[in-house]
Amino acid sequence: MKIYRAKDYEDLSRKAANIISSKVILKPDCVLGLATGSTPIGTYKNLIQSYENGDLDFSDVTSVNLDEYKGLGPDHDQSYRYFMNHNLFDHINIDKARTFVPDGLEADSDKACQAYNDIIAGCGGIDLQLLGLGHNGHIGFNEPSDEFEKETHCVDLTESTIDANKRFFASEADVPRQAYTMGIKTIMQARKVLVVVSGSDKADILAKVVNGPVTPAVPASILQMHNDVIIVADEAALSKM
Ligand code: F6R
Repeated sequence: MKIYRAKDYEDLSRKAANIISSKVILKPDCVLGLATGSTPIGTYKNLIQSYENGDLDFSDVTSVNLDEYKGLGPDHDQSYRYFMNHNLFDHINIDKARTFVPDGLEADSDKACQAYNDIIAGCGGIDLQLLGLGHNGHIGFNEPSDEFEKETHCVDLTESTIDANKRFFASEADVPRQAYTMGIKTIMQARKVLVVVSGSDKADILAKVVNGPVTPAVPASILQMHNDVIIVADEAALSKM
């Protein structure tokens, strides 16, 4: 694992965007694995800036996102498809038909997961997977458990996640109870993995991910076994290393 130390969130966002930019420049038809959440927003802003400056061309890029809430469609402002459109895709020249997010409106979980596995395989795998890190070590919606789930699967959201998300919905009853997520094997098969981590509240878990045992109790710890992982973290997130 290579660790790039960033001064602060701005610096982290610029460094992460530069790594993604270099992939797009060197391989214009690359497959980018993308994430939602608060951490990558600055990275996406920098990518948009580079596109607007004329330094990046996304016209041949394909993207596959990590996850989506089951039951939410693209027009729901809490769906991850909506997030991606608003924070990145609407502002660059990527072909939306080649941006993939699990189909939250597919009620048949087996069908939704198989379709997503087929999409990823059809793309020829992921060249660079961007990840955020959950406070409990989750990546995508791969939560701590007894085993590493391999491919796309449907997860039951924990009570704490439902509770944390309810502020974004009209009522707790509207909060999705399940999500579709890319599995650990698929993430591990990405040719390069880029993890962005910001803030002192992530310091304990980042130390465990990097220096602790590899265990499904800390899903991101599996990244120790990947041969091309870059972690870009700010000083606050690195404070317990
Ligand atoms: C997002 C995702 C999540 C987040 C993680 C960190 O698609 O799958 O695993 O990356 O929860 O979120 P933030 O960046 O908001 O701390």
